[in-house]
Amino acid sequence: MSTVTILPSGKTIEVQEGTSLLDAILAAGEKLMHKCGGNAECGSCHIFVQAGKKGLSKTAAPEHARLDTIVGVGSKSRLACQAKVLGTEDITVELLGFASGL
Ligand code: FES
Repeated sequence: MSTVTILPSGKTIEVQEGTSLLDAILAAGEKLMHKCGGNAECGSCHIFVQAGKKGLSKTAAPEHARLDTIVGVGSKSRLACQAKVLGTEDITVELLGFASGL
């Protein structure tokens, strides 16, 4: 079990190991676009991981490929649908809204 804190609201929720950040964010009642339904195909779920990056699953090839197509991507970027909580660290994410690059 880890906590995920969501910025800018500051809402914090407990998340089971194996849960995607997208599911965690939606379960917290936050809005995050996910046009392709979580398949690393649209990039609309792009977020920044501000803390606890090591507590997430590694970035695999489809996520890398999609991130490469998004404007405004940086070292903290992840696709929320692809990043799964490992349960080893607490995590802080930042929702980007119109700054998501889409
Ligand atoms: S929901 Fe489409 S890439 Fe994450």
